[in-house]
Parts: sequence; C-alpha cells; structure tokens
Amino acid sequence: MRVTPAVLGLLLVLVPASMPLAEDDLAARTTASQEAIKSLAGTLVGQLSLALADGGPVAAIEVCNLVAPEIAHAESAARGWRVGRTSLKLRNPANAPDAWELAVLQDFEARKTAGADPKTLDHAEIVTDDGRRSFRYMKAIPTMEVCTTCHGASVAPDIAAQLDALYPEDRARGYAVGDIRGAFTVVQPLD
Ligand code: HEC
Repeated sequence: MRVTPAVLGLLLVLVPASMPLAEDDLAARTTASQEAIKSLAGTLVGQLSLALADGGPVAAIEVCNLVAPEIAHAESAARGWRVGRTSLKLRNPANAPDAWELAVLQDFEARKTAGADPKTLDHAEIVTDDGRRSFRYMKAIPTMEVCTTCHGASVAPDIAAQLDALYPEDRARGYAVGDIRGAFTVVQPLD
C-alpha cells in the first residue's frame, strides 16, 4: 500500500482508537475506580453500622437489601460508570458476575490459595466486548467479623428467616473471617 496523504490521514484517525491506553492513563483509571469503591464501601459500612446499632441485624438487612443497590446506582450514575458488587456465592442473583468477572473472581481465589492476602487482591484490564472497549477493575472484599452476622456459618434464626424470605436462593452463608466474600467491580466505558 502506498502511503498517500489520504491513507496517512486515515491511519492517523484509526490508529489512536485501537492503541492500548497509556500506562499512566491505566494507573489514573485504577485510582479513580478505587476512589469510587471507597466511596461506595464507606457509605455501605456507615449505613450498615448505623442500622445494626439502631435496629439490630434484622433491620440492617434492609440496608443491604434496599440501600446497597441504591448507593451503587447513585455511584454509577454520577460518573457514567457501572459500580457494583459481585460474588461466586450470591445472595442476590441480580449481582451475578459476567464471564469476565467470573474469571477474575476465580483468579482471586487461586491467588488467595497460593498465599496472597485477600486485602491486596485486585485486577485492572482493558476489555473489548462486542467491539466496545472498557476499562474494568475489580477489588476483592474480605469477610470481616461484622459480616458473619449475615454471611457466617451460624446465622441467628431470626436473621436466617428474614434472609430466606427475601432471598430464597441465598448461597452467601458459611463464610469465615478472612474468606473472600466477593468483589467490587467497576466498568468505565471507553468508546
Ligand atoms: C445485616 C445483614 C448483613 C450484614 C451484616 C452484611 N451483609 Fe452483605 N448482604 C446482605 C444482604 C441482604 C445482601 C443482598 C443485597 C442485595 O440485594 O443486593 C448482601 C449482599 C452482599 C454482597 C453482594 C453479593 C451478593 O451475594 O449478592 C457482598 C459482596 C456483601 N454482601 C458483602 C458483605 C460484607 C463484606 C459484609 C461485612 C462488611 C457484609 N456483607 C455484611 C446482608 C448483610
């Protein structure tokens, strides 16, 4: 092919779109994703602690049931991204992982088995899906003591009854402190 000015022009238009993001851009998008996650996690834990102190665990289930998706939606809408939570063992089927998220969750488990601290597990990647590129980021969520009230092996009968009523297919019990409960997931569309 002869590189005429027209071809050169075309190349200049096409090449930047198909080039990978610069490393510093990847780092910036990772940091921005971590900030969105911090904001979501902070609001969630804050609301959860308030509700636990105020009305006890059964009332606090409402925070996770109603408030968690709302907070995640607000966080997503504010930035035009998708920010949410997912897991290999779900409570709410609406939080189901897509194929990419499933692979990353499995990788987190493998890295933990190999000795990694769940607090440090994350993954950032540019993913092309149906011809559209997005920056995607996931960060593992370790199980803490407070989580076992509703996600542990021995959930109190009143809490279990409320969970059974709201989530008939609940698989998110039986977790011990230090287990990976799931992950935060962020999608930043690029195209
Ligand atoms: C008061 C009960 C309660 C406590 C305490 C609690 N959760 Fe949950 N959790 C829920 C409920 C209810 C849902 C389902 C939310 C929904 O419908 O999206 C949920 C969902 C989740 C999900 C989304 C994936 C899924 O399974 O649907 C993650 C991740 C999660 N919880 C992590 C945690 C962590 C980490 C803690 C401790 C910091 C915690 N939870 C404490 C009740 C609780």
